[in-house]
Amino acid sequence: MSDLPLHRHYLHYSELPLSQRVLYTAALLVLGTGYLFALLNVYFTYAGKAGGNPLLLTTEDLIVAYSGSGKGSRLESALRGPMAGMLPADERGVVMAWAAEGSKRPEYDKSVAPILEKRCMTCHDGSNPHLPNLGGFDNLKKVTEKDTGAAIATLVRVSHIHLFGITFIFFLVGLMFSHAYVRPVWLKCSVVALPFAAIMVDVASWYMIKVFHPFVYLEILAGGILAACFAFMFLVSLYQMWFSSTPTVVQDRDRIVL
Ligand code: HEC
Repeated sequence: MSDLPLHRHYLHYSELPLSQRVLYTAALLVLGTGYLFALLNVYFTYAGKAGGNPLLLTTEDLIVAYSGSGKGSRLESALRGPMAGMLPADERGVVMAWAAEGSKRPEYDKSVAPILEKRCMTCHDGSNPHLPNLGGFDNLKKVTEKDTGAAIATLVRVSHIHLFGITFIFFLVGLMFSHAYVRPVWLKCSVVALPFAAIMVDVASWYMIKVFHPFVYLEILAGGILAACFAFMFLVSLYQMWFSSTPTVVQDRDRIVL
């Protein structure tokens, strides 16, 4: 397969008009810059999200971004931290248990509302705009919501943008790369096709991480394949367009035709 004859419609870069090579080069350089910014964006969005080193991007950061910290709500962190001294331990236990068990309405009315009324309303009655208003069930709901990571609606929005955008990018890059002379042919075809599989796996893994955290490794693998294929096509295309000599098979074909 490695000495598969050239397809009669195959054109090497050296057979393309200069204007087309200039167009390819300009597009590749801007797309390459875009790719670097995409990687920086991943870094700035997720690094330190899990509360670890803010300068480091870890798998834990990605898991928290997609599936939430699992550490409960703002109310629970406040009662564990700065607000712990605002009420006696037994009352604190009642509120914590209620929050941990899903912040249900009947228990709120029965046991939680009276405690908050007595212990918290002096400061959290809504008169201070810098403090969360804890008066009434609906207000309290805002600080009892669990951190469950990216909302499904957000993921759906980002999914369609990613699927359209990345397909577009890899279609263009693959089309430009199709003029490269690469053997064996299966390798060339794999590099062209893999990114499309990888983007599907990448997007699917965002949803699956919510259910089962180790899918984060599948996401990283998909991202790695995407980046590796991009880098390969980018470098081989630019190299063969401007720096390498015309492959002998391509030269030989010209000789036969003439
Ligand atoms: C003496 C005034 C005072 C009382 C009483 C008080 N708080 Fe606070 N609370 C504050 C202040 C000030 C802040 C903001 C500063 C901070 O977060 O430490 C705050 C912040 C909060 C926050 C937000 C934390 C965040 O994530 O930003 C919550 C939730 C909270 N309090 C719950 C309560 C509860 C529940 C009670 C009653 C058991 C209570 N507080 C009683 C003064 C009070």
